[in-house]
Amino acid sequence: MLHGSSLKEGKKKVKKSRKVIIDTDPGIDDAIAIAAALFDERLDIKLFTTVAGNVSVDKVTKNLLKLLAFWDKEVPVAIGSDRPLLREAINASDIHGSTGMDGYEFPESKYELLTKNHAVIEMYKVLMESKEKTTIVGIGPLTNIALLLRMYPECVERVEELIIMGGSLARGNYGVLSEFNIAADPEAAKIVFESKMPLTVVGLDVGEKALVLPEERATLQKMNKTGDMIDHLFSAYRGGSLDTGLKMYDGCAIAYLLDPEMFEVRESYVTVETQGLLTAGATLFDLDGYLGKEINCRVCVDIDEKQFRRWFLEAIRKCD
Ligand code: RIB
Ligand code: CA
Repeated sequence: MLHGSSLKEGKKKVKKSRKVIIDTDPGIDDAIAIAAALFDERLDIKLFTTVAGNVSVDKVTKNLLKLLAFWDKEVPVAIGSDRPLLREAINASDIHGSTGMDGYEFPESKYELLTKNHAVIEMYKVLMESKEKTTIVGIGPLTNIALLLRMYPECVERVEELIIMGGSLARGNYGVLSEFNIAADPEAAKIVFESKMPLTVVGLDVGEKALVLPEERATLQKMNKTGDMIDHLFSAYRGGSLDTGLKMYDGCAIAYLLDPEMFEVRESYVTVETQGLLTAGATLFDLDGYLGKEINCRVCVDIDEKQFRRWFLEAIRKCD
């Protein structure tokens, strides 16, 4: 396991106003990631795109528009795929509630932010019209990103980095060996993994350790209106436990984007099982090169848990 060098190698200077597209399925842990990204002055979020995942694409889109109204933020929102490429949609309403973001009554939604084009078209426009390369952060199933790659393969060179929350070096959180975002659309993940996009994977191995403990919740409750809202969402969130810690899976993807030094990163070949009756959606990170394939990703294998908790509170404190 590389430590210092991987940290140095993982240590990336985040440029001021880094152009970002966030593909998301809010989702309570998505909401935390979105908050952290929206209020960090180092990021210039050009577009949000929504994808069916935690709940239907209509519901996740409504949730995103509620969040943008809550913070009075004007970022375009493009609705994406309402189902996986081939499979029937699954959902995680058992984790996020039937609305996908239970626990807090949001007064309104900013429907005027909706674009007229599909998410894939809007992603393509941002990537090709921007002078600088754009970072894509995928914190839901990879259906939209796979379609982008199939429809517009030329956009790969316009992507600075694709950071995804997904996969696992070992066990799953949806199936025995499959993490939810990958399990939802394994075929999409395969297209992404084979795309040669500069890919960083932030999986369960760090997400399971990126915890909000009771002491952080107590701080949230007294912090600001975002802290109060998130604390209400946490009362409905079943990703972990209120006592031993709530898992900030998607928050890790933004934490990596902004402060990568809190992660230990390894280079690896990654692929995904799409044929297995019992193992579809399982990700295989060939850290030791058994398969003899070319490296196609960087994967976060560990996290400084205390630093994450500090980062989380600082990120929410900025949301004023
Ligand atoms: O496995 C965790 C992932 O699945 C997160 O993105 C969560 O929001 C769900 O989409
Ligand atoms: Ca998500």
